[in-house]
Amino acid sequence: MSAFWSTWIQGLVIFNMGITFFLFIFAIRTKIPTLEDGTTGHVWAHGVLREGLNKLPLWWIVGSAGWFLAAWIYLVLYPGFGRLPGVLGWSSHEQLEQQLADNAVRLEQTYGQFRAMPLERLALDEDAHRIGHRIFIDNCAACHGRNGAGNPGFPKLNDNFWTWGGSADDVLTTITNGRHGMMAPVGAALGEEGTLAVANYVASLSGIEHDAALVATGKEKFGTICVACHGPDAKGNPMLGAPDLTAGIFLRSVGVPGIVETIDKGRMGEMPAWSGRLNEDEIRLVAAWVIGNVNHDTKATAP
Ligand code: HEC
Ligand code: HEC
Repeated sequence: MSAFWSTWIQGLVIFNMGITFFLFIFAIRTKIPTLEDGTTGHVWAHGVLREGLNKLPLWWIVGSAGWFLAAWIYLVLYPGFGRLPGVLGWSSHEQLEQQLADNAVRLEQTYGQFRAMPLERLALDEDAHRIGHRIFIDNCAACHGRNGAGNPGFPKLNDNFWTWGGSADDVLTTITNGRHGMMAPVGAALGEEGTLAVANYVASLSGIEHDAALVATGKEKFGTICVACHGPDAKGNPMLGAPDLTAGIFLRSVGVPGIVETIDKGRMGEMPAWSGRLNEDEIRLVAAWVIGNVNHDTKATAP
């Protein structure tokens, strides 16, 4: 605060407190003329209401004087009188800094105890699970759902089906660096009939409604193009993020028409990287939550 504003505020404080003090002294001593019946002579409603004159009660006078004094004591102890710091040396800035520092110490204690634990162990820890879920809700739930149950286009994270690998390390890498699924559009290479045949073959792998007459041709064509990423048995490749096509789990493709669309247009799923947004401790905790949250009883089932 500049010297000018400091003086300005001090002036205002003294002026206001001065007026208060003056009124206080003045009001006690002032004599107000009264009539014989003890009223001031002010009447309303044709004399029905008359203004009496009562002295301020003692408790009120003592109380007010006390608060007046307390105000000055406050200004001596705490900042408020211009830029004078107050004899206690307290300031809201310092208090905030102190609280932030205390919080950092507490966070460090909380996170520190988890640092030595391997992820698999962390996944079983109740406290870590609670904190991890909080981080998940704040950062991941918008896409993956509050409890990781997934959304159309965003994978379920609570089943045993992993596109990018389900080991603790895989999940940690997925979250830290993000993942870009890249399926190029290959419909043109297959032609319309070829595409339809492959789509029917893929549908047959998960028992989705399909035309059985096209499966053999589809399987053959699958072996020429799709095999490069999805593998010869269509079980996928976690290195490329090419999903297992035999589990009946699709992020977007619905039925044969959906699979045809995927083949024609390709797919580009993006899981954002969190390394810049969450710190290492937070990433480990949320990864541990994801791992611990997997329901190991669920066989891969359609979302
Ligand atoms: C270059 C590698 C590559 C090739 C070749 C490829 N895919 Fe894919 N495929 C992927 C990847 C990666 C994904 C996941 C895309 C994503 O994450 O959005 C995927 C996803 C899919 C999906 C799932 C889409 C969904 O909704 O979940 C289907 C179905 C599929 N591919 C079928 C095929 C078929 C059939 C072929 C052959 C005609 C084929 N793919 C060729 C890499 C490939
Ligand atoms: C903007 C939406 C979005 C947010 C936010 C997001 N994800 Fe994802 N995530 C995706 C998409 C899309 C994929 C699928 C990528 C692909 O393969 O096509 C994915 C994939 C994953 C996978 C891999 C699943 C598998 O089958 O291998 C994991 C694990 C994961 N996310 C965890 C998280 C966690 C933990 C967070 C929060 C820190 C998070 N995600 C936040 C969109 C998101």
